[in-house]
Amino acid sequence: MMKRTNSCGELVKKDIKQKVCLMGWVNSRRDHGGIIFTDLRDRYGLTQVVFDPKHIKKVHADAEKLRREDVIAVSGKVRSRGEGLENPKLKTGEIEVLVDSLEILNKSETPPIEIDERIELNEDIRLKYRYLDLRRESMQKNIALRHRTVKAARDYFDSMGFLEIETPMLGKSTPEGARDYLVPSRVNAGKFYALPQSPQILKQLCMISGFDKYFQVVRCFRDEDLRADRQPEFTQIDVEMSFIEQDDIFSLIEGLVKNIWKKVLGRNVKVPFKRMSYHDAMGKYGSDKPDLRFGLELVDVSDIVSKSGFDVFKKVIADKGKVKCVNAKNCGGFSRKELDELIAFVQIYDAKGMAWMKVTDKGLESNIVKYFDSNVQKGLVKAMNAAKGDLLLFVADHKHHIVDVALGQLRNELARRLKLTKGKEDNFLWVVDFPLFEFDEDEQRHVAVHHPFTIPRDEDIKYLDTDVKKVKAKAYDITLNGVEIGGGSIRIHKPEMQKKMFKVLGISDKDANKKFGFLLEAFKYGAPPHGGIALGLDRIIALLTGNESIREVIAFPKTKNAEDLMMEAPNNVDEKQLKELNVKLDVVKK
Ligand code: AMO
Repeated sequence: MMKRTNSCGELVKKDIKQKVCLMGWVNSRRDHGGIIFTDLRDRYGLTQVVFDPKHIKKVHADAEKLRREDVIAVSGKVRSRGEGLENPKLKTGEIEVLVDSLEILNKSETPPIEIDERIELNEDIRLKYRYLDLRRESMQKNIALRHRTVKAARDYFDSMGFLEIETPMLGKSTPEGARDYLVPSRVNAGKFYALPQSPQILKQLCMISGFDKYFQVVRCFRDEDLRADRQPEFTQIDVEMSFIEQDDIFSLIEGLVKNIWKKVLGRNVKVPFKRMSYHDAMGKYGSDKPDLRFGLELVDVSDIVSKSGFDVFKKVIADKGKVKCVNAKNCGGFSRKELDELIAFVQIYDAKGMAWMKVTDKGLESNIVKYFDSNVQKGLVKAMNAAKGDLLLFVADHKHHIVDVALGQLRNELARRLKLTKGKEDNFLWVVDFPLFEFDEDEQRHVAVHHPFTIPRDEDIKYLDTDVKKVKAKAYDITLNGVEIGGGSIRIHKPEMQKKMFKVLGISDKDANKKFGFLLEAFKYGAPPHGGIALGLDRIIALLTGNESIREVIAFPKTKNAEDLMMEAPNNVDEKQLKELNVKLDVVKK
């Protein structure tokens, strides 16, 4: 076989007259007056290679057999493409290689999908032939960028004195609260390992072991409902530190983000990032991951509309509910159909409906304004900073959460429709002061918002015995453009506090010991104060590459059904394997 001298993405003018050997895939073939032009492709780019019958007849004859995606080696001389024939879009666009010899390394059958960026393909077929899909330039770029991001992260942590420590994949259930993926043990009949939902407990144990600065690029497994930003297995950049407070984690992660953005995108990110309490995020933006690239803030207008004659609002307020409003600036021209779409949209988020008013020269206009006298109308216009051409959108409910979430989602939907984020700078935000507990209606008990090892704020410890609703946690999320890209907390490191926490959560000593006994035991032998965070690597790469779905930045992702269409996993296993594992199937068909 010939020896490759160059990649397909590097030859330029200064290489003219060089003798080179290139290897790659036939991207395209064009016949021009007997001369065959082929774009040869590898992961570095495309180079035009030329087979001229006047140069070497046999080589040209062999080239006539070339088909798309054949793998070939060519050697020949680099020459100029000639005046007017350059392709400025390609790095190699000034040159071509006149081929002296051709070796067909492997023929390709007609591929089931086109390796062509311009063609929009169905995702299932892309996933079935993922190895071909990955040949496309955009996918090659995404995967390369992912590599550079991880490299930048590892270099950063190394420079800060962190150690990367691997933790087991076969372990015991972790406290993140999703469903576990289980693995049956052959040698311990009837017992199962759980794949980690995160290395949470093990990284805390690393602190107890004295590794005060830990990080790991680590795969996590969660059996939960999948979405564009959720995969059953995904990667975290996981971090834990001892002898620190919340602010230390913030500046560490701000430094990491700054480093990655600079190295990978060449962009400067301004630090420190803004901070907002969970309370404000929910109240003003209806989300614990608000996108601050646009306004459209939620305003509580309950007091104002309580003086109206509109029964729907008045009843909700009498019921201790609330009415909130968003001013969709300059959307007064929305059609009835568009308004109906928005009404259907908020109903997805359990709102019963949505009221609207258009701001015109003559005041407010809508099917309900007759119930709002001029004083109330004036009050609304003032509170909403409304001007002619605006559109006021209202949601009312006796459950405050429904009002916030429905309007928060509506806010995002309006931004999508109006393209409000186009060209806007990346917007990072720390969301802080999460509540420590939330009440689980199904289980009728308090559950931990983050996880049961998160410490309360010092000033709230007193409420643990009296009013747990008031207790805020030293827990934080980092968000980017409305996406949660990471979350963490300062942990409890004293056994008494941990006991108290389990008590509020209704976890008995026996249950706590069964689940996390080894951690509670470890806390007895000198646990340093510690805390950490985990960043969702896939989400970060999706944002860096401008993709909506994390499937675009994972080499071999799974579908919404948690299937790998290429491998056809999961699949059935042999009776013999099951027997070895002491597992008997009794599949319940749904
Ligand atoms: P948390 O559960 O918030 O925290 O996860 C951290 C980050 O991981 C990402 N993420 C996901 N990405 C893709 N697919 C998923 N299914 C998925 N689930 C989560 C998100 C999220 O912000 N042990 C704690 C961290 C800590 O306290 O240190 C934890 O795992 O970007």
